[in-house]
Amino acid sequence: MRICLHGRPRPKQPRLLHFCFCLLGLVAICPERQWLRSSGFLVAGAAGCARLELATGARAAPESVGRGAWPHKSIQRRAAEGSAAAGGDDGSDIPRRLTLGVGLSLLAAVGAKRFLIDGPPEFDPAPRSLQGRTVLITGANTGLGKESAIRLARAGATVVITARTDEKGLQALEAIKAASSASDVHFLQLDLADLANVRSFRQRFQSQSYGEKLDVLLNNAGVMAIPERRQTKDGFEQQFGVNHLGHFTLVAQMLPLLKKATGFARVINVSSTAHLGATKENMEGDLMAPERYTQWGAYCQSKLANVLFAKELDRRFKQAGVKATAVACHPGGVDTDLARWLVVNSEDAAAAKKARKENAAFEAIGTFLTRDVQHGANTQVYLAAGADGGYDRSGGGYFDNMAPGLLNPVADDEALAKQLWTESERLTGTKLDVSSAAA
Ligand SMILES: NC(=O)c1ccc[n+]([C@@H]2O[C@H](COP(=O)([O-])OP(=O)(O)OC[C@H]3O[C@@H](n4cnc5c(N)ncnc54)[C@H](OP(=O)(O)O)[C@@H]3O)[C@@H](O)[C@H]2O)c1
Repeated sequence: MRICLHGRPRPKQPRLLHFCFCLLGLVAICPERQWLRSSGFLVAGAAGCARLELATGARAAPESVGRGAWPHKSIQRRAAEGSAAAGGDDGSDIPRRLTLGVGLSLLAAVGAKRFLIDGPPEFDPAPRSLQGRTVLITGANTGLGKESAIRLARAGATVVITARTDEKGLQALEAIKAASSASDVHFLQLDLADLANVRSFRQRFQSQSYGEKLDVLLNNAGVMAIPERRQTKDGFEQQFGVNHLGHFTLVAQMLPLLKKATGFARVINVSSTAHLGATKENMEGDLMAPERYTQWGAYCQSKLANVLFAKELDRRFKQAGVKATAVACHPGGVDTDLARWLVVNSEDAAAAKKARKENAAFEAIGTFLTRDVQHGANTQVYLAAGADGGYDRSGGGYFDNMAPGLLNPVADDEALAKQLWTESERLTGTKLDVSSAAA
């Protein structure tokens, strides 16, 4: 189609529009081709904008455009003249074109939200498919951990959630039981910012009726973008300390029970696409030097550590002949409490929720630029359910949208992963010997 601005002739029936509708029809019936759907909606968006441009700019006279006049002024002038001036345009066509343009642009926006941001439809493991499996989820009083607990409990798994306080944990426990209609859900307190607390965890876990083995460890808890450098009880920088070192110590604790899993066990590190923002240099030298601290730098570093750790753990599982796999994943940009430090500069999630409600910009970002927690939990639930073909598959993999994700090449640096392992052992005073760990 010829799009003719400034009064040159163009067809009455815009073929571009028809083409876009056909394209949309095609991509709508192509559920497995997300990139195709996304490009379809982007083309529709472009067409919508073109329509808007046709409606608002097409009728601007060359001289008025040349003088920098706004197109809508030109439209108003033409409408007032009531004439079909140069190019044969009829002013009465403008509302229709505007409506179509706005409509297509909205369609593109909804499509972009639906397919680019929300990702694939909700994934639910089949009822009873996880019976006999025990899953431990850290930081499950809210956000992705809580949603994962609901979905995995619904599929029949024995689910053990952790939270930093009894109050938060017990409250979440009731909510998870109610939402999943499952009773085999349990709570244990765990603070990853306190290594003494982490070290006491296995003994507390083992003393429970479900505590003789562990099939899936979902290392989900995390903190993000703390503006000022903070420290854990053990003096570690908070983001690296909680997101990586706390989980490293927990894996060492729970390894003997993972070795008793029914069939293959699995460790899942919930990382982030933010791991792409970290470099090799970020993983070397003094990992938590105060002068190196930036709020996002520390988060990216901790999330790259999650991937490096998963890959090295998987390699060591294989070398030691341990029936287990370790994987990492990115949940997408999800509407959870994770952004609390950005909203209220505090870890108070309730205050962040309140502040968000009062701020239209935060609310709009939260609602339109992120996926909801049901879509966000997909990948970790998929991996925790072994839906990638079984718990013995995908070892060392990094997943996004329930498929292999875009990986930082640094994550494949084996020497760096070994170095991180050794440094994590030194910092935490924990020997993580995959071959010898026994209950
Ligand atoms: N949301 C996203 O867009 C996104 C994107 C990429 C990756 N992720 C990752 O997804 C994971 C889950 O995050 P989310 O979005 O669900 O965030 P969230 O709603 O803030 O949940 C984080 C969980 O971690 C817990 N936690 C924080 N510090 C802890 C500590 N010291 N010890 C034990 N638990 C602690 C929190 O407990 P409290 O409530 O007591 O603080 C909460 O239960 C994180 O690892 C995050 O990095 C999220």
